[in-house]
Amino acid sequence: MPHRRLAALMTASALAAGCTADAPDPTSPALVPLPVSVRASEGGFTLDAGARIGVREAGGVPVAEGLARLLRRATGYALPVVRQEAEITLEVTSRPPAGGLGQEGYTLDVTPERVRLAAATPEGLFRGVQTLRQLLPPKVESTGPQPGPWTIDGVRVEDRPRFPYRGVMLDVARHFFTVEQVKRYIDLAVAYKVNHLHLHLTDDQGWRIEIKSWPRLAADGFYTQDDYREIVRYAAERFVTVVPEIDTPGHTNAALAAYAELNCDGRAREPYRGREVGFSSLCTSKEVTYRFLDDVVREVAALTPGPYLNLGGDEAHSTDPEDYEKFVTRAHQIVDTYGKRLTGWAEMTSGEVAQHWNPREPDRAVAAVARGAKLIMSPADRSYLDMKYTAGTGYGLDWAGLVEVGDSYAWDPATLVEGVTEKDILGVEAPLWTETLETPDALEYMAYPRLPGIAEIGWSPAAARSWEDYRGRLAAQAPRWQAQSVTFYRSPEVPWH
Ligand code: ACM
Repeated sequence: MPHRRLAALMTASALAAGCTADAPDPTSPALVPLPVSVRASEGGFTLDAGARIGVREAGGVPVAEGLARLLRRATGYALPVVRQEAEITLEVTSRPPAGGLGQEGYTLDVTPERVRLAAATPEGLFRGVQTLRQLLPPKVESTGPQPGPWTIDGVRVEDRPRFPYRGVMLDVARHFFTVEQVKRYIDLAVAYKVNHLHLHLTDDQGWRIEIKSWPRLAADGFYTQDDYREIVRYAAERFVTVVPEIDTPGHTNAALAAYAELNCDGRAREPYRGREVGFSSLCTSKEVTYRFLDDVVREVAALTPGPYLNLGGDEAHSTDPEDYEKFVTRAHQIVDTYGKRLTGWAEMTSGEVAQHWNPREPDRAVAAVARGAKLIMSPADRSYLDMKYTAGTGYGLDWAGLVEVGDSYAWDPATLVEGVTEKDILGVEAPLWTETLETPDALEYMAYPRLPGIAEIGWSPAAARSWEDYRGRLAAQAPRWQAQSVTFYRSPEVPWH
Protein backbone atom coordinates (compact mmCIF):
# COMPACT_ATOMS: atom_id res chain seq x y z
CA MET A 1 0.00 0.00 0.00
CA PRO A 2 2.74 2.58 0.80
CA HIS A 3 4.21 1.89 -2.62
CA ARG A 4 0.89 2.48 -4.22
CA ARG A 5 0.51 5.89 -2.55
CA LEU A 6 4.01 6.95 -3.51
CA ALA A 7 3.45 5.98 -7.12
CA ALA A 8 0.16 7.87 -7.11
CA LEU A 9 1.86 11.01 -5.84
CA MET A 10 4.55 10.75 -8.46
CA THR A 11 1.95 10.40 -11.16
CA ALA A 12 0.13 13.44 -9.82
CA SER A 13 3.29 15.55 -9.96
CA ALA A 14 4.09 14.34 -13.47
CA LEU A 15 0.61 15.43 -14.53
CA ALA A 16 1.08 18.80 -12.82
CA ALA A 17 4.20 19.21 -14.94
CA GLY A 18 2.05 18.79 -18.03
CA CYS A 19 3.06 15.22 -18.92
CA THR A 20 -0.40 13.88 -19.62
CA ALA A 21 0.68 11.09 -21.95
CA ASP A 22 3.47 9.62 -19.87
CA ALA A 23 4.24 5.97 -19.35
CA PRO A 24 1.44 4.63 -17.16
CA ASP A 25 1.85 4.21 -13.44
CA PRO A 26 2.32 0.46 -12.83
CA THR A 27 -0.06 0.58 -9.86
CA SER A 28 -2.85 2.13 -11.96
CA PRO A 29 -6.00 0.12 -12.54
CA ALA A 30 -5.76 -2.26 -15.50
CA LEU A 31 -7.79 -0.26 -18.03
CA VAL A 32 -8.12 -1.04 -21.75
CA PRO A 33 -7.97 1.23 -23.65
CA LEU A 34 -5.51 3.21 -21.58
CA PRO A 35 -7.01 6.61 -20.69
CA VAL A 36 -5.22 9.90 -21.34
CA SER A 37 -4.78 10.49 -17.61
CA VAL A 38 -5.35 8.32 -14.54
CA ARG A 39 -4.52 9.61 -11.06
CA ALA A 40 -4.93 7.35 -8.07
CA SER A 41 -6.41 9.06 -4.99
CA GLU A 42 -6.93 8.22 -1.34
CA GLY A 43 -9.62 5.83 -0.22
CA GLY A 44 -12.21 4.07 -2.27
CA PHE A 45 -15.92 3.89 -2.94
CA THR A 46 -18.12 0.92 -2.06
CA LEU A 47 -21.36 0.42 -3.89
CA ASP A 48 -23.98 -0.83 -1.48
CA ALA A 49 -27.56 -2.03 -1.64
CA GLY A 50 -29.05 1.42 -1.04
CA ALA A 51 -27.14 3.19 -3.83
CA ARG A 52 -28.91 5.15 -6.56
CA ILE A 53 -27.80 6.33 -9.96
CA GLY A 54 -28.47 10.04 -10.42
CA VAL A 55 -28.74 12.03 -13.63
CA ARG A 56 -30.30 15.49 -14.01
CA GLU A 57 -30.17 15.86 -17.80
CA ALA A 58 -32.76 13.91 -19.78
CA GLY A 59 -30.17 13.00 -22.43
CA GLY A 60 -28.16 11.06 -19.88
CA VAL A 61 -31.06 8.91 -18.66
CA PRO A 62 -30.68 6.07 -21.21
CA VAL A 63 -26.97 5.77 -20.34
CA ALA A 64 -27.80 5.71 -16.62
CA GLU A 65 -30.47 3.06 -17.26
CA GLY A 66 -27.96 0.96 -19.19
CA LEU A 67 -25.44 1.19 -16.34
CA ALA A 68 -28.18 0.34 -13.84
CA ARG A 69 -29.18 -2.78 -15.82
CA LEU A 70 -25.58 -4.02 -15.85
CA LEU A 71 -25.02 -3.35 -12.15
CA ARG A 72 -28.39 -4.79 -11.07
CA ARG A 73 -27.70 -8.05 -12.89
CA ALA A 74 -24.41 -8.68 -11.07
CA THR A 75 -25.14 -7.11 -7.66
CA GLY A 76 -28.82 -7.91 -7.23
CA TYR A 77 -29.27 -4.33 -5.87
CA ALA A 78 -32.27 -2.19 -6.82
CA LEU A 79 -30.18 0.78 -8.06
CA PRO A 80 -33.01 3.13 -9.02
CA VAL A 81 -32.24 5.85 -11.56
CA VAL A 82 -33.15 9.22 -10.01
CA ARG A 83 -33.13 12.75 -11.44
CA GLN A 84 -30.84 14.28 -8.79
CA GLU A 85 -27.32 13.90 -7.34
CA ALA A 86 -26.78 10.39 -6.00
CA GLU A 87 -24.09 7.93 -4.97
CA ILE A 88 -23.26 7.43 -8.64
CA THR A 89 -23.90 10.62 -10.62
CA LEU A 90 -23.79 11.02 -14.38
CA GLU A 91 -23.71 14.58 -15.66
CA VAL A 92 -23.98 16.03 -19.17
CA THR A 93 -22.21 19.38 -19.02
CA SER A 94 -20.53 21.93 -21.25
CA ARG A 95 -18.41 23.16 -18.32
CA PRO A 96 -14.69 22.32 -18.42
CA PRO A 97 -12.94 20.06 -17.87
CA ALA A 98 -15.47 17.43 -18.99
CA GLY A 99 -17.17 19.88 -21.35
CA GLY A 100 -13.87 20.51 -23.13
CA LEU A 101 -13.04 16.89 -23.90
CA GLY A 102 -15.00 16.58 -27.13
CA GLN A 103 -17.92 14.39 -28.11
CA GLU A 104 -16.54 11.19 -26.60
CA GLY A 105 -14.40 12.53 -23.75
CA TYR A 106 -15.30 12.26 -20.07
CA THR A 107 -14.03 12.72 -16.54
CA LEU A 108 -14.54 10.12 -13.86
CA ASP A 109 -13.97 10.77 -10.14
CA VAL A 110 -14.13 8.04 -7.56
CA THR A 111 -14.02 9.26 -3.95
CA PRO A 112 -15.18 7.59 -0.74
CA GLU A 113 -18.47 9.53 -0.96
CA ARG A 114 -19.42 9.06 -4.57
CA VAL A 115 -18.69 8.22 -8.19
CA ARG A 116 -19.09 11.17 -10.54
CA LEU A 117 -18.96 10.75 -14.30
CA ALA A 118 -19.20 13.87 -16.46
CA ALA A 119 -19.14 14.43 -20.24
CA ALA A 120 -20.25 16.95 -22.84
CA THR A 121 -22.61 14.38 -24.41
CA PRO A 122 -24.48 11.17 -23.54
CA GLU A 123 -21.99 9.44 -25.86
CA GLY A 124 -19.12 10.63 -23.66
CA LEU A 125 -20.98 9.29 -20.63
CA PHE A 126 -21.35 5.93 -22.35
CA ARG A 127 -17.59 5.75 -23.05
CA GLY A 128 -16.93 6.66 -19.41
CA VAL A 129 -19.30 3.94 -18.20
CA GLN A 130 -17.01 1.41 -19.93
CA THR A 131 -14.12 2.69 -17.80
CA LEU A 132 -16.24 2.46 -14.66
CA ARG A 133 -17.07 -1.19 -15.50
CA GLN A 134 -13.37 -2.01 -15.63
CA LEU A 135 -12.74 -0.29 -12.27
CA LEU A 136 -15.27 -2.60 -10.61
CA PRO A 137 -14.36 -6.22 -9.77
CA PRO A 138 -14.56 -8.58 -12.81
CA LYS A 139 -17.62 -10.32 -11.36
CA VAL A 140 -19.56 -7.17 -12.31
CA GLU A 141 -19.77 -8.75 -15.78
CA SER A 142 -21.59 -11.82 -14.41
CA THR A 143 -25.07 -12.54 -15.68
CA GLY A 144 -26.38 -13.51 -12.23
CA PRO A 145 -26.12 -12.00 -8.71
CA GLN A 146 -22.70 -12.26 -7.04
CA PRO A 147 -21.64 -11.50 -3.45
CA GLY A 148 -19.99 -8.10 -2.80
CA PRO A 149 -18.15 -6.10 -1.77
CA TRP A 150 -18.33 -3.81 -4.81
CA THR A 151 -15.37 -1.57 -4.09
CA ILE A 152 -13.59 0.83 -6.44
CA ASP A 153 -10.22 2.37 -5.55
CA GLY A 154 -10.12 6.17 -5.49
CA VAL A 155 -9.17 7.59 -8.87
CA ARG A 156 -9.56 10.55 -11.21
CA VAL A 157 -9.67 9.81 -14.93
CA GLU A 158 -9.64 12.39 -17.74
CA ASP A 159 -10.01 10.88 -21.14
CA ARG A 160 -10.75 11.44 -24.81
CA PRO A 161 -10.00 9.43 -27.97
CA ARG A 162 -7.07 9.91 -30.30
CA PHE A 163 -9.11 9.09 -33.45
CA PRO A 164 -12.83 9.56 -34.14
CA TYR A 165 -13.20 6.18 -35.92
CA ARG A 166 -12.54 2.96 -34.01
CA GLY A 167 -14.19 0.17 -35.92
CA VAL A 168 -14.74 -3.52 -36.09
CA MET A 169 -15.82 -5.26 -39.29
CA LEU A 170 -17.77 -8.47 -39.48
CA ASP A 171 -18.05 -10.48 -42.70
CA VAL A 172 -21.58 -11.90 -42.60
CA ALA A 173 -21.39 -12.89 -46.28
CA ARG A 174 -18.99 -15.85 -46.24
CA HIS A 175 -20.84 -17.18 -43.23
CA PHE A 176 -24.01 -15.65 -41.94
CA PHE A 177 -24.45 -14.53 -38.34
CA THR A 178 -27.84 -13.86 -36.77
CA VAL A 179 -29.08 -10.57 -35.32
CA GLU A 180 -28.54 -11.94 -31.79
CA GLN A 181 -24.99 -13.00 -32.63
CA VAL A 182 -24.20 -9.57 -34.07
CA LYS A 183 -25.63 -7.94 -30.93
CA ARG A 184 -23.25 -9.94 -28.76
CA TYR A 185 -20.33 -8.97 -31.01
CA ILE A 186 -21.35 -5.31 -30.49
CA ASP A 187 -21.74 -5.74 -26.73
CA LEU A 188 -18.27 -7.22 -26.32
CA ALA A 189 -16.62 -4.59 -28.54
CA VAL A 190 -18.19 -1.50 -26.95
CA ALA A 191 -16.48 -2.40 -23.66
CA TYR A 192 -13.28 -1.25 -25.45
CA LYS A 193 -14.86 1.97 -26.73
CA VAL A 194 -15.33 0.75 -30.31
CA ASN A 195 -17.73 3.14 -32.07
CA HIS A 196 -18.26 1.77 -35.60
CA LEU A 197 -19.51 -1.60 -36.86
CA HIS A 198 -18.70 -2.16 -40.53
CA LEU A 199 -20.89 -4.98 -41.86
CA HIS A 200 -19.59 -6.74 -44.98
CA LEU A 201 -23.07 -7.64 -46.23
CA THR A 202 -22.44 -9.04 -49.71
CA ASP A 203 -19.80 -11.13 -51.45
CA ASP A 204 -19.38 -13.95 -53.96
CA GLN A 205 -20.79 -16.48 -51.50
CA GLY A 206 -23.91 -14.65 -50.36
CA TRP A 207 -26.05 -11.50 -50.30
CA ARG A 208 -27.23 -10.95 -46.73
CA ILE A 209 -29.50 -7.88 -46.81
CA GLU A 210 -33.03 -7.83 -48.20
CA ILE A 211 -33.40 -5.46 -51.17
CA LYS A 212 -37.11 -5.10 -51.89
CA SER A 213 -36.68 -3.95 -55.49
CA TRP A 214 -34.39 -6.94 -56.30
CA PRO A 215 -35.97 -9.65 -54.16
CA ARG A 216 -33.91 -12.61 -55.39
CA LEU A 217 -30.57 -11.20 -54.16
CA ALA A 218 -30.96 -12.42 -50.61
CA ALA A 219 -31.79 -16.11 -50.71
CA ASP A 220 -30.78 -18.03 -47.58
CA GLY A 221 -29.32 -16.58 -44.45
CA PHE A 222 -30.00 -12.84 -44.64
CA TYR A 223 -31.31 -9.87 -42.67
CA THR A 224 -34.77 -8.65 -43.55
CA GLN A 225 -34.87 -4.86 -43.58
CA ASP A 226 -36.57 -5.02 -40.18
CA ASP A 227 -33.76 -7.25 -38.85
CA TYR A 228 -31.21 -4.78 -40.15
CA ARG A 229 -33.06 -1.85 -38.56
CA GLU A 230 -32.91 -3.72 -35.28
CA ILE A 231 -29.11 -4.10 -35.56
CA VAL A 232 -28.79 -0.38 -36.38
CA ARG A 233 -31.04 0.55 -33.44
CA TYR A 234 -29.21 -1.70 -31.00
CA ALA A 235 -25.86 -0.34 -32.14
CA ALA A 236 -27.05 3.28 -31.90
CA GLU A 237 -28.24 2.70 -28.35
CA ARG A 238 -24.59 1.86 -27.63
CA PHE A 239 -23.27 4.82 -29.63
CA VAL A 240 -22.04 2.58 -32.43
CA THR A 241 -22.54 3.68 -36.06
CA VAL A 242 -23.21 0.87 -38.52
CA VAL A 243 -21.36 1.17 -41.85
CA PRO A 244 -23.02 -1.05 -44.46
CA GLU A 245 -20.78 -2.50 -47.17
CA ILE A 246 -22.14 -3.64 -50.51
CA ASP A 247 -18.98 -4.88 -52.22
CA THR A 248 -18.73 -3.86 -55.91
CA PRO A 249 -17.86 -4.24 -58.77
CA GLY A 250 -16.00 -7.45 -57.82
CA HIS A 251 -16.99 -9.86 -55.04
CA THR A 252 -20.43 -9.94 -56.68
CA ASN A 253 -21.01 -13.57 -57.68
CA ALA A 254 -24.08 -13.84 -55.44
CA ALA A 255 -25.76 -10.99 -57.34
CA LEU A 256 -24.55 -12.35 -60.70
CA ALA A 257 -26.09 -15.73 -59.80
CA ALA A 258 -29.42 -14.21 -58.76
CA TYR A 259 -29.88 -11.93 -61.81
CA ALA A 260 -28.69 -13.01 -65.25
CA GLU A 261 -29.02 -9.47 -66.66
CA LEU A 262 -26.20 -8.20 -64.45
CA ASN A 263 -23.73 -10.33 -66.45
CA CYS A 264 -22.27 -8.99 -69.70
CA ASP A 265 -23.16 -12.29 -71.42
CA GLY A 266 -26.66 -12.29 -69.91
CA ARG A 267 -26.13 -15.70 -68.33
CA ALA A 268 -26.58 -16.26 -64.60
CA ARG A 269 -23.52 -17.52 -62.73
CA GLU A 270 -23.52 -20.63 -60.54
CA PRO A 271 -23.72 -20.05 -56.77
CA TYR A 272 -20.24 -20.14 -55.22
CA ARG A 273 -19.07 -21.66 -51.93
CA GLY A 274 -15.28 -21.63 -52.40
CA ARG A 275 -12.59 -19.27 -51.10
CA GLU A 276 -11.12 -17.77 -54.28
CA VAL A 277 -11.39 -14.01 -54.82
CA GLY A 278 -11.20 -11.71 -57.84
CA PHE A 279 -13.17 -13.72 -60.41
CA SER A 280 -16.50 -11.87 -60.47
CA SER A 281 -17.49 -8.45 -61.82
CA LEU A 282 -20.67 -6.52 -62.39
CA CYS A 283 -21.05 -5.62 -66.07
CA THR A 284 -19.84 -2.01 -66.00
CA SER A 285 -20.96 -1.29 -69.59
CA LYS A 286 -24.64 -2.12 -69.06
CA GLU A 287 -27.16 0.50 -67.90
CA VAL A 288 -29.04 -2.11 -65.87
CA THR A 289 -25.98 -2.31 -63.61
CA TYR A 290 -26.46 1.34 -62.61
CA ARG A 291 -30.22 0.93 -62.14
CA PHE A 292 -29.40 -2.00 -59.88
CA LEU A 293 -26.81 0.02 -57.97
CA ASP A 294 -29.18 2.98 -57.64
CA ASP A 295 -31.91 0.75 -56.21
CA VAL A 296 -29.55 -0.99 -53.79
CA VAL A 297 -27.94 2.25 -52.61
CA ARG A 298 -31.33 3.95 -52.22
CA GLU A 299 -32.69 1.11 -50.06
CA VAL A 300 -29.52 0.69 -47.99
CA ALA A 301 -29.13 4.45 -47.50
CA ALA A 302 -32.71 4.59 -46.20
CA LEU A 303 -31.75 2.01 -43.54
CA THR A 304 -28.60 3.93 -42.59
CA PRO A 305 -28.69 6.87 -40.18
CA GLY A 306 -24.87 7.06 -40.20
CA PRO A 307 -22.97 9.14 -42.78
CA TYR A 308 -21.08 6.35 -44.55
CA LEU A 309 -22.02 3.90 -47.26
CA ASN A 310 -19.26 1.51 -48.31
CA LEU A 311 -19.15 0.11 -51.85
CA GLY A 312 -16.09 -2.09 -51.36
CA GLY A 313 -14.02 -1.76 -54.51
CA ASP A 314 -11.37 -4.31 -53.48
CA GLU A 315 -9.82 -7.04 -55.57
CA ALA A 316 -11.76 -6.24 -58.76
CA HIS A 317 -9.29 -8.32 -60.74
CA SER A 318 -11.92 -9.19 -63.36
CA THR A 319 -12.85 -5.58 -64.10
CA ASP A 320 -10.84 -3.68 -66.71
CA PRO A 321 -9.04 -0.79 -64.91
CA GLU A 322 -10.61 1.88 -67.16
CA ASP A 323 -14.08 0.40 -66.68
CA TYR A 324 -13.39 0.23 -62.96
CA GLU A 325 -12.74 3.97 -62.77
CA LYS A 326 -15.88 4.78 -64.75
CA PHE A 327 -17.90 2.49 -62.51
CA VAL A 328 -16.55 4.06 -59.33
CA THR A 329 -17.24 7.58 -60.63
CA ARG A 330 -20.88 6.71 -61.28
CA ALA A 331 -21.16 4.80 -58.02
CA HIS A 332 -19.89 7.86 -56.17
CA GLN A 333 -22.56 10.02 -57.85
CA ILE A 334 -25.26 7.54 -56.82
CA VAL A 335 -24.10 7.51 -53.19
CA ASP A 336 -24.05 11.34 -53.25
CA THR A 337 -27.61 11.37 -54.58
CA TYR A 338 -28.83 9.52 -51.51
CA GLY A 339 -26.99 11.84 -49.13
CA LYS A 340 -24.28 9.43 -47.98
CA ARG A 341 -20.49 9.60 -48.01
CA LEU A 342 -18.81 6.96 -50.16
CA THR A 343 -16.24 4.81 -48.42
CA GLY A 344 -14.37 1.77 -49.66
CA TRP A 345 -11.18 -0.25 -49.56
CA ALA A 346 -7.94 1.39 -50.70
CA GLU A 347 -8.39 0.32 -54.34
CA MET A 348 -11.43 2.63 -54.63
CA THR A 349 -10.40 5.53 -56.85
CA SER A 350 -13.03 7.93 -55.53
CA GLY A 351 -14.77 8.51 -52.20
CA GLU A 352 -14.12 10.33 -48.96
CA VAL A 353 -12.67 7.53 -46.88
CA ALA A 354 -10.34 4.73 -48.02
CA GLN A 355 -9.41 1.72 -45.97
CA HIS A 356 -5.77 0.59 -46.07
CA TRP A 357 -5.71 -3.19 -45.80
CA ASN A 358 -3.07 -4.77 -48.05
CA PRO A 359 0.45 -4.51 -46.57
CA ARG A 360 1.83 -5.03 -50.08
CA GLU A 361 0.01 -1.96 -51.44
CA PRO A 362 0.88 1.04 -49.24
CA ASP A 363 0.94 3.25 -52.36
CA ARG A 364 -2.84 3.02 -52.61
CA ALA A 365 -3.15 4.61 -49.16
CA VAL A 366 -0.79 7.41 -50.21
CA ALA A 367 -2.77 7.93 -53.42
CA ALA A 368 -6.05 8.11 -51.51
CA VAL A 369 -4.59 10.85 -49.28
CA ALA A 370 -3.31 12.69 -52.36
CA ARG A 371 -6.86 12.89 -53.75
CA GLY A 372 -8.15 14.19 -50.41
CA ALA A 373 -9.55 11.05 -48.79
CA LYS A 374 -9.09 10.20 -45.12
CA LEU A 375 -7.78 6.78 -44.19
CA ILE A 376 -8.99 4.00 -41.97
CA MET A 377 -5.97 1.89 -41.09
CA SER A 378 -6.60 -1.86 -41.03
CA PRO A 379 -3.36 -3.49 -42.19
CA ALA A 380 -4.00 -7.21 -42.67
CA ASP A 381 -0.71 -8.25 -41.05
CA ARG A 382 -1.67 -6.37 -37.86
CA SER A 383 -5.39 -5.86 -37.56
CA TYR A 384 -7.09 -8.67 -39.55
CA LEU A 385 -8.64 -10.81 -36.86
CA ASP A 386 -8.96 -13.75 -39.26
CA MET A 387 -5.19 -14.24 -39.54
CA LYS A 388 -4.02 -17.24 -37.54
CA TYR A 389 -2.13 -16.48 -34.31
CA THR A 390 0.32 -19.33 -34.89
CA ALA A 391 0.71 -22.09 -37.46
CA GLY A 392 -1.29 -24.29 -35.09
CA THR A 393 -4.38 -22.03 -34.82
CA GLY A 394 -7.37 -24.16 -35.77
CA TYR A 395 -9.22 -21.39 -37.61
CA GLY A 396 -8.32 -18.58 -39.92
CA LEU A 397 -6.08 -17.79 -42.87
CA ASP A 398 -2.40 -16.89 -43.10
CA TRP A 399 -1.96 -15.05 -46.42
CA ALA A 400 -0.79 -11.90 -44.53
CA GLY A 401 1.28 -13.93 -42.07
CA LEU A 402 0.78 -15.22 -38.55
CA VAL A 403 -0.40 -12.45 -36.23
CA GLU A 404 0.28 -13.08 -32.55
CA VAL A 405 -1.22 -10.73 -29.97
CA GLY A 406 1.97 -8.66 -29.69
CA ASP A 407 2.19 -8.23 -33.50
CA SER A 408 -1.38 -7.00 -33.64
CA TYR A 409 -0.74 -4.45 -30.86
CA ALA A 410 2.78 -3.12 -31.47
CA TRP A 411 2.29 -0.74 -34.40
CA ASP A 412 1.17 2.81 -34.87
CA PRO A 413 -1.20 4.01 -37.60
CA ALA A 414 0.65 7.31 -38.05
CA THR A 415 4.05 5.71 -38.76
CA LEU A 416 2.97 2.57 -40.61
CA VAL A 417 2.94 3.90 -44.17
CA GLU A 418 5.55 6.36 -45.39
CA GLY A 419 3.81 9.52 -46.55
CA VAL A 420 0.79 8.98 -44.27
CA THR A 421 0.68 11.01 -41.06
CA GLU A 422 -1.69 11.52 -38.14
CA LYS A 423 -3.76 14.22 -39.89
CA ASP A 424 -4.58 11.88 -42.80
CA ILE A 425 -6.10 9.26 -40.54
CA LEU A 426 -9.75 8.95 -39.51
CA GLY A 427 -9.06 5.91 -37.38
CA VAL A 428 -8.47 2.17 -37.21
CA GLU A 429 -10.46 -0.98 -37.79
CA ALA A 430 -10.23 -4.66 -36.94
CA PRO A 431 -11.88 -6.67 -39.75
CA LEU A 432 -12.98 -10.26 -39.22
CA TRP A 433 -13.42 -12.27 -42.44
CA THR A 434 -15.34 -15.48 -42.03
CA GLU A 435 -14.31 -17.90 -44.78
CA THR A 436 -13.19 -20.32 -42.04
CA LEU A 437 -15.45 -19.12 -39.21
CA GLU A 438 -18.93 -20.57 -38.80
CA THR A 439 -19.79 -20.16 -35.12
CA PRO A 440 -19.86 -17.34 -32.55
CA ASP A 441 -17.19 -19.24 -30.58
CA ALA A 442 -14.90 -19.15 -33.60
CA LEU A 443 -15.49 -15.40 -34.03
CA GLU A 444 -14.68 -14.75 -30.39
CA TYR A 445 -11.60 -16.96 -30.42
CA MET A 446 -10.12 -14.93 -33.28
CA ALA A 447 -11.24 -11.52 -31.94
CA TYR A 448 -10.19 -12.03 -28.32
CA PRO A 449 -7.68 -11.03 -27.27
CA ARG A 450 -6.67 -9.03 -30.39
CA LEU A 451 -9.72 -6.77 -30.79
CA PRO A 452 -9.09 -4.75 -27.59
CA GLY A 453 -5.57 -3.96 -28.79
CA ILE A 454 -6.79 -2.42 -32.05
CA ALA A 455 -9.40 -0.48 -30.06
CA GLU A 456 -6.64 0.85 -27.80
CA ILE A 457 -4.52 1.89 -30.79
CA GLY A 458 -7.47 3.98 -31.93
CA TRP A 459 -8.22 5.50 -28.54
CA SER A 460 -5.07 5.94 -26.45
CA PRO A 461 -2.23 8.48 -26.83
CA ALA A 462 0.57 6.88 -28.87
CA ALA A 463 3.30 8.06 -26.51
CA ALA A 464 1.72 6.30 -23.53
CA ARG A 465 1.39 2.88 -25.14
CA SER A 466 3.83 0.01 -24.78
CA TRP A 467 3.43 -3.73 -25.30
CA GLU A 468 5.10 -4.47 -21.95
CA ASP A 469 2.51 -2.44 -20.09
CA TYR A 470 -0.40 -3.44 -22.31
CA ARG A 471 0.07 -7.19 -21.92
CA GLY A 472 -0.46 -6.89 -18.15
CA ARG A 473 -3.60 -4.80 -18.60
CA LEU A 474 -4.85 -7.25 -21.23
CA ALA A 475 -4.33 -10.20 -18.88
CA ALA A 476 -6.62 -8.51 -16.37
CA GLN A 477 -9.46 -8.64 -18.92
CA ALA A 478 -9.60 -12.46 -18.85
CA PRO A 479 -11.80 -12.82 -15.74
CA ARG A 480 -14.20 -10.31 -17.30
CA TRP A 481 -14.44 -12.47 -20.44
CA GLN A 482 -14.85 -15.59 -18.32
CA ALA A 483 -17.76 -13.96 -16.48
CA GLN A 484 -19.41 -13.45 -19.88
CA SER A 485 -18.42 -16.88 -21.26
CA VAL A 486 -16.29 -15.31 -23.98
CA THR A 487 -14.14 -17.78 -25.91
CA PHE A 488 -10.61 -16.44 -26.23
CA TYR A 489 -7.10 -17.51 -27.22
CA ARG A 490 -4.73 -17.88 -24.26
CA SER A 491 -1.70 -16.47 -26.00
CA PRO A 492 1.59 -17.45 -24.33
CA GLU A 493 2.67 -13.82 -24.86
CA VAL A 494 0.16 -12.57 -22.26
CA PRO A 495 0.77 -13.06 -18.51
CA TRP A 496 -2.68 -14.45 -17.71
CA HIS A 497 -3.21 -14.73 -13.96
C1 ACM B 1 -9.88 -7.35 -48.46
O1 ACM B 1 -9.30 -7.98 -47.56
N1 ACM B 1 -10.12 -7.91 -49.62
C2 ACM B 1 -10.29 -5.98 -48.28
